[in-house]
Amino acid sequence: MKKIIIRKTEELEQWRQYLKSDINFIPTMGNLHNGHRKLISTAKSDNSNFNLVSIFINPLQFDNKSDLENYPKTIDNDIKLSFSNGADAIFIPSTEDIYPPNNKNITFLKASVELSSALCGLNRIGHFDGVCTVVYRLLNLIKPKNLYLGEKDWQQLLILKNLILTKELDIAIKSIPTQRDFDGIPLSSRNVHLSKNERKLIKFFSNELLIAKTNFKQEKKINLKGIIKKLSAKKVLIEYLEHLHPYTLENSRVEDNISILAGAIRCGETRLIDHVFLMKRSPIIAIDGPAGSGKSTVTKLIAKKLKLLYLDTGAMYRALSWLLIKENIDYKKEKKLNNILKDISIVFKSNTNSHQDVFINNYCVTEEIRSQEISSIVSKISSIKEVRKFLVEEQRKIGELGGIVAEGRDIGTTVFPDAELKIFLTASIDERAKRRKSDKKSKDSQDLDLNKLKELIKKRDFEDSNREISPLIKANDAIEIITDGYSINQVVDKIIDLYDDKIPKEIQI
Ligand code: PAF
Repeated sequence: MKKIIIRKTEELEQWRQYLKSDINFIPTMGNLHNGHRKLISTAKSDNSNFNLVSIFINPLQFDNKSDLENYPKTIDNDIKLSFSNGADAIFIPSTEDIYPPNNKNITFLKASVELSSALCGLNRIGHFDGVCTVVYRLLNLIKPKNLYLGEKDWQQLLILKNLILTKELDIAIKSIPTQRDFDGIPLSSRNVHLSKNERKLIKFFSNELLIAKTNFKQEKKINLKGIIKKLSAKKVLIEYLEHLHPYTLENSRVEDNISILAGAIRCGETRLIDHVFLMKRSPIIAIDGPAGSGKSTVTKLIAKKLKLLYLDTGAMYRALSWLLIKENIDYKKEKKLNNILKDISIVFKSNTNSHQDVFINNYCVTEEIRSQEISSIVSKISSIKEVRKFLVEEQRKIGELGGIVAEGRDIGTTVFPDAELKIFLTASIDERAKRRKSDKKSKDSQDLDLNKLKELIKKRDFEDSNREISPLIKANDAIEIITDGYSINQVVDKIIDLYDDKIPKEIQI
């Protein structure tokens, strides 16, 4: 397709009417660098949509006249960089085009008060209102499917997410992590203004943030005052440095697993921002739901796509049930059960088919635990207090460092109540029975008739939902997905989108 440059809003509107494909939109203010390059090339590789880059220096978002006047302009280079990295069209409007003197078609917006009252919003009065106004105007003109933004401007990203939500726009925000230069400082169009000495200061600042991130993983806390003191001693002019909740931008609480350490410094005339995410452990996805909801297949695929550890907690209950039956243990006798639990080891190992095998006390039981005999007893055994306590502890040990997607029935409520993303996957009884019947793994189920399977599923649901300890219930903060009528891949993509939306790219493994 021919690459085009559009300069007038009317031209853009006309062209948009005839464009059949969806648009990935990459808004910029020009002076493009490797951060923008990454945005454009990510959009290009994500899908086969039409990639449109806009270049517009938005006067409404400058709180300082000289900053606006001095904003670097490198239009010829920007055009080259955009086209050579995957842009199909570039929109370069004039100020009069975006803000016609009679203000026709313009809605002047206010950014979310909560999100713009922190960090940069404190000193840059009206800045985020200006960003919302221009982006909303551009979105209305371009009508994209996806909006690509850099996580470097994390506060801007949150504010624009909020804008899309409150205006009920059907647009997904896709983000890329902060891109850093060779010396660790974040890429920014304003870096060209830095003298050698100023660059040293920002380098010192950024490196201090990166050190805080590493230390936080070990110590689980930060010494904000200590960092400020260290930076001040090096004559770094701090405008703010704050430790906040990453989504609300309120003060971070001790119990937060993920928080943000964000700061702005002044280097001469230039103001530069940087941030890091602090994490006690890597993110966790909890997927709960009844038997036959598709959890196992979906969870395995998510683990593979996001390179997370896969934890099948149901297999642990099944493996333990298998052992109790095989060794003929009277599990109703507390003492006997406790004695056996002391010596149990359950381990998952990847096999040659890149699936996982389950071992209990060194027996590989992957196949046997799927029998109807185990299916009929596992709910009873998993409702025993000692069994639950033992296996929940084992599961927490496996997930201690995070970076895991766990499936089960009580993951979001009991095992990892602080999981970053909780999904409750379900489907109608009819659908689940059909799936069980065609599941090659549960051989016994294939021989049962559909009505019998439905009965068994209902019975299992009742037992799971009514047991005293850790019953199967949806966690308050879980997102319910009813999978009837959806393909496995559609469900997987939906969950990955939710994960991408929640977890900054910067901290995804
Ligand atoms: O991040 C930027 O470059 C600008 O704030 C944006 C999103 C292009 C709006 O002018």
